[in-house]
Amino acid sequence: MARKKIALIGAGQIGGTLALLAGQKELGDIVLFDIPAAEGTAKGKALDIAQLSPVEGFDARYSGSSDYKDIEGADVVIVTAGVPRKPGMTRDDLVGINAKVIDSVGKGIKQHAPNAFVIVITNPLDAMVGLMQEVTGFAPEKVVGMAGVLDSARFRLFLAEEFNVSVEDVTAFVLGGHGDTMVPLLRYSTVGGISLHDLVDMGWTTKERLEAIVQRTRDGGAEIVAHLKTGSAFYAPAASAIAMAESYLRDKKRVIPCAAKLNGEYGVKGLYIGVPVVIGSKGVERIVEVEFNAEEKAMFDKSVAAVQSLIDATNKIVGR
Ligand code: APR
Repeated sequence: MARKKIALIGAGQIGGTLALLAGQKELGDIVLFDIPAAEGTAKGKALDIAQLSPVEGFDARYSGSSDYKDIEGADVVIVTAGVPRKPGMTRDDLVGINAKVIDSVGKGIKQHAPNAFVIVITNPLDAMVGLMQEVTGFAPEKVVGMAGVLDSARFRLFLAEEFNVSVEDVTAFVLGGHGDTMVPLLRYSTVGGISLHDLVDMGWTTKERLEAIVQRTRDGGAEIVAHLKTGSAFYAPAASAIAMAESYLRDKKRVIPCAAKLNGEYGVKGLYIGVPVVIGSKGVERIVEVEFNAEEKAMFDKSVAAVQSLIDATNKIVGR
């Protein structure tokens, strides 16, 4: 079987980590792409990681490029092109710059990798992934955004620390927009299969402590930006996108939260928003739709409204 090809658009902090993780998992051969001014970064990282592969013992070919021809026929394209958040900047501040980037990257992908499964990481995520799907014209199930895996990973970590248990045994169910308007469903989030509501009743934690953990999760990106000062998170975002790419390439059919285009599910039509989906070889094969209670519904609606306003701002900028 021919090896798969993975194109990484943006060879920055996340791009480099994606390249390393994709190789370690032997997902395929990897092309790191960046603008001409950063072609050296793409080539340098590609060569450096290729030289790591004999030590780590994995087979993957690496190359760096600023020519879209080199992503020809890619099976998966992961997009981090754009600028990351600086301290004090919200994700929304990024709209102006990153919408233009996504517009040009989308055209390159459409022309050179028309059959790819596209995973968008560039923020503000929910707006950028929608723009990518419009620009490429790809089927909605072939264009997804990485947000929920990361938000739920952050939530899982903080919960595992709260309960002093393994992160492996904590599951988290999150929906909605990325970060600030994330909607955690506590009754579907569990420790060893026991819901968080039950854990409160069992005296393992309190409602107030859970609320603080939810808030820390929502602010998870900003907390890291405040530490790093010169950029935003990159290890966990990269690992999250790789989990999505792996589920697609290996037809694992994992149930993971992603920004997917809704077509009436959750009462939303034509908007990308974070929901649990099944990812397999056809891309987004199923959207998992659960019933909300009144409180959850209110949070979700607020999240949808926030995403809609971001999209309106994006459309203004790209003149749609
Ligand atoms: N085409 C290709 N690459 C581009 C383009 C473009 N039009 N414009 C910018 N880039 C490249 C930059 O040259 C840089 O190498 O995208 C890369 C972004 O890398 P970093 O600045 O290191 O940012 P990173 O931390 O990887 O985050 C990228 O992901 O989480 C989001 O908010 C984050 O939007 C940001 C993105």
